[in-house]
Amino acid sequence: AKAEDGYDLWLRYAPLEGEALDRIAGLHGPVAVLSSDGPEEASATMEAARRELGVGLTRLSRNSASSMRSGAEGYVRLECPENRGDSAVGYSVRADGADIRIRGSSDLACLYGVFALLRELSLGVDPVRIDIASEPAMPLRMLNHWDNPDGHVERGYAGRSIFDWWHLPERLDQRMIDYARANASLGINGVVVNNVNARAFMLEPRYIAKYKRLADAWRPYGIRLYVSVRFSAPKDIGGLDSADPLDPEVRAWWQAKADEFYAAVPDFGGFLVKANSEGQPGPQDYGRSHADGANMLAEAIGNRGTVIWRAFVYSAEDETDRAKQAYGEFVPLDGQFADNVIVQVKNGPIDFQPREPFHPMFGAMPNTKLMFEAQITKEYLGFASHLAFLAPLWEEVLDQEPGRGGRVAEVVLPAGMAGVANTGSDRNWSGSHFDQANWYAFGRLAWNPELPSEQIAREWTVQTFTREPEAIEKIVRMMMRSREAVVGYMTPLGLAHLMNTGHHYGPAPWVCDLPRPEWNPCYYHRADADGIGFDRTESGSDALSQYADSIANRWDDPNTIDPRFLLWFHHIAWTAKRPSGLTLWEELVSEYDWGVAEVDAMAREWADLSDAIDPQRHRAVTESLAIQQREARWWRDASIAYWQSLNGLPLPENVRPPA
Ligand code: GCU
Repeated sequence: AKAEDGYDLWLRYAPLEGEALDRIAGLHGPVAVLSSDGPEEASATMEAARRELGVGLTRLSRNSASSMRSGAEGYVRLECPENRGDSAVGYSVRADGADIRIRGSSDLACLYGVFALLRELSLGVDPVRIDIASEPAMPLRMLNHWDNPDGHVERGYAGRSIFDWWHLPERLDQRMIDYARANASLGINGVVVNNVNARAFMLEPRYIAKYKRLADAWRPYGIRLYVSVRFSAPKDIGGLDSADPLDPEVRAWWQAKADEFYAAVPDFGGFLVKANSEGQPGPQDYGRSHADGANMLAEAIGNRGTVIWRAFVYSAEDETDRAKQAYGEFVPLDGQFADNVIVQVKNGPIDFQPREPFHPMFGAMPNTKLMFEAQITKEYLGFASHLAFLAPLWEEVLDQEPGRGGRVAEVVLPAGMAGVANTGSDRNWSGSHFDQANWYAFGRLAWNPELPSEQIAREWTVQTFTREPEAIEKIVRMMMRSREAVVGYMTPLGLAHLMNTGHHYGPAPWVCDLPRPEWNPCYYHRADADGIGFDRTESGSDALSQYADSIANRWDDPNTIDPRFLLWFHHIAWTAKRPSGLTLWEELVSEYDWGVAEVDAMAREWADLSDAIDPQRHRAVTESLAIQQREARWWRDASIAYWQSLNGLPLPENVRPPA
């Protein structure tokens, strides 16, 4: 592949130069491959490790490493002799004289170690100084694909699905291997291959054969395959009258179905379920609880895998506050879920907004394994057209202290993280070059949620774009300010869900006539002639009471709440004086302006980089930034004009007129 088309992602292994090149010129290998005596898969993993190392060293060293010297020094030694299974994937990579030793307790540890070594070398680290040891913080590091069997990707902005169900199982696209390499390079170890809005027929034998082919291809890379299931499948495809989780026939059907999966795919990961949400069937259709539904599937899967049950639920019937519903349905069930059930919780209580407070469930279910659900694809952040680096968004939530169990990052440690994938058939996988960084960042954080966003941005930039120090700093600065800019021009000061309905692109705060109240942007901003914001304190929906006292007390007062969440929890008069000395209206307008100015600054910085970036990718990003500049103004101007139609206030004096 041509590096410039983006297909190689962060695995470009662009040739080193100068001293860094000299330093690795002597490196070759691998030799002394000590593999576990395990089953055939184990050696396929070692084979993948060798191959990656060969490709990586060759490219990084401009071929000099490939000319295998017969000298006794300068080898990369892969020493992973004892396979202690799936979970023992921690590795060490250490210089030992002129050699480098990669060690671990499973073949997968060696593969992960190879990727770590290549990352360090790409970053220009001197091989003789390499000394790292690492292991994943959490057991499950997963991608959730919202890919439909017909190739359409729900909320996908990078082309069609990468999964070729039509030709599987006979034909396996090379892309499936490159996809596995990219995931393994980050330590991603689970993939849900189909949309949470699942079609029941994807549980039929013809599909199981396709999963088997994929699972076999991904096994060497440490990736287990999972499938989203439709809860009513026993009725839809099983010929039963019911899908009641307490009905013995239904239970037997799922048991047989699970056995069928494991017969084909012995390390099948398990089921992901969206139930009783947005019209999907579920146990509540039979008067049963989420726990009844999840535990029935958990019994069918047994100790072979996991049931991941999503907490993203809301219904038209509950009219108080959508933000409260998941907590209301799930918290009373704490402690009732089977051991192999994980409840997967979105980062915030509504839906992947540019900014939300953390989900209150993270502090409220100490006896349930909770998994963190992030959205890598940018449904509410300008699709692949707007540049927004999401690591700071996830870091912001992972760092919160929900009041029990430590920080959110610690609460989810026993389970893991899931990210809604942003991959598609586009040559560059993600629809834009910078969106690759979000896939990368998700994987890095799932491996180690303590990694600072800025470090992730920097290492991604070096591997993907350039090793030129000034250019790196410029790009990192762009990335680090990008998500906050989106918040500024779309939903400042805690506003949310003002995107146009259905597709969620562009502003539409004026929409208020859709049949379900919580589909309307006006439901979320509650603006009128006097003020704006959703009162979620005691005088309003009281959603604030779902948070621990230590937090609720701080957030209860509009003057002490973090202003980034102000209008999420409070309805404030337009003319109210804020601690800043400005009125709310003045603050709001200046936020919009600031967001637009930030995008302009990003575009200027990028324009300066034309010498450091290949022309093809430089132009592609330039063109996207031009769209973003125009649409940031669209967001600002449409939003302000609409608020003015309600409050009748003039534009504040100090605010620049729209450019
Ligand atoms: C959002 C998104 C849907 C998706 C849903 C989910 O509402 O718009 O497309 O199905 O989240 O997470 O289940």
